[in-house]
Amino acid sequence: MVDQSASAAVNRQIVFSSIPDGLPTLDNFTLVESPVPEPQDGQIRVRHLFLGLSPSARLRMAGDSDYGAGMPLGKPVQGQAVGVVDISRNPAFQPGDHLVVNGGWQSYSVTSGRGATRVDADLAPPSCALGLLGTSGMTAYVGMLDIGLPKAGETVVVSAASGSVGSVAGQIAKLKGCRVVGVAGGAEKCDYVTKTLGFDACVDHRAPGLPQRLAAACPEGIDIYFENVGGAVRSAVWPLFNDFGRVVLCGMISDYQNREGLTGPDWFPILTHRLTIRGFLLRDHADRRDAFLADMADWYRSGMVRYREDVADGLEQAPAAFIRLLRGDNFGKTLVRLADG
Ligand SMILES: NC(=O)c1ccc[n+]([C@@H]2O[C@H](COP(=O)([O-])OP(=O)(O)OC[C@H]3O[C@@H](n4cnc5c(N)ncnc54)[C@H](OP(=O)(O)O)[C@@H]3O)[C@@H](O)[C@H]2O)c1
Repeated sequence: MVDQSASAAVNRQIVFSSIPDGLPTLDNFTLVESPVPEPQDGQIRVRHLFLGLSPSARLRMAGDSDYGAGMPLGKPVQGQAVGVVDISRNPAFQPGDHLVVNGGWQSYSVTSGRGATRVDADLAPPSCALGLLGTSGMTAYVGMLDIGLPKAGETVVVSAASGSVGSVAGQIAKLKGCRVVGVAGGAEKCDYVTKTLGFDACVDHRAPGLPQRLAAACPEGIDIYFENVGGAVRSAVWPLFNDFGRVVLCGMISDYQNREGLTGPDWFPILTHRLTIRGFLLRDHADRRDAFLADMADWYRSGMVRYREDVADGLEQAPAAFIRLLRGDNFGKTLVRLADG
């Protein structure tokens, strides 16, 4: 059911009400209603159309961390939204402008507009600005091209290959002439990765014998590993590196629930194969935005890059959709639709 709050002039919010212990539960979130906020001089009000959910929000729900400031309790869950300006008291914005804002899990947000990014609603549906043409696509772009430095003929392995970042990262490596092997959970996702996205192979990490099956899928070893998940997938990748292999350390979702007692991989292959391991955070790469948008818009328009969304309807579904994302039950960019236009 689509959220009706826009017409009811009520701001519905999902408030972060308690810190999760392990995987979040619905009890960690509370739905509240308040009057729609009024913008002051210099501010705009944005009516949210879609929320974009990201695994890293779980890290910030554990308090201040090296990933960023902790998410405050008693406030709407923080995260990106795409929406439409419905009132502007800032001459830089007009009612009807489409923007991506850090507006949180609520129907409306008020902002000065600082940090907001404009959306070209003629190029693609607005939801795309949270995924392929937004944070997910740009993370894949910067990670694969600038950190991975793919060369034609190399073997690239991408974990969470059906997901919003991994699916794009692997397709970019294909565009660069690499042999691309995905790792995904389940036969349906693996089929999508090979048949729709065009990866050369995909290995199901939820079936037995992952190390052997991954080795068989990479007979010439691995030159680049685009790391999204950590855990057992990383362990299966580790013995397979070629000399001068690169690890693009984008995320480690399997470790986000609990970082206590984690152990790292064996360091010997790093020495003997002269590996480069480089973590990156998208926020350091804003200078790449214009190049990313130009390339990705081109690839999107020409059908060279495919992409899918996993959409839940209604603000009240946001906590369940977030839990599904952290469990790996999502299939594509996880979005919550609040309104249609
Ligand atoms: N560095 C940055 O600036 C940056 C920016 C954005 C995102 N990221 C990171 O990019 C990664 C992907 O994010 P996304 O938003 O695109 O999510 P996503 O890939 O759309 O969804 C997460 C996927 O992770 C997989 N997964 C979940 N638990 C797993 C486990 N225990 N073991 C193996 N796989 C598991 C699931 O796929 P399967 O069913 O296939 O296992 C799930 O679909 C995350 O690590 C995220 O934190 C980093």
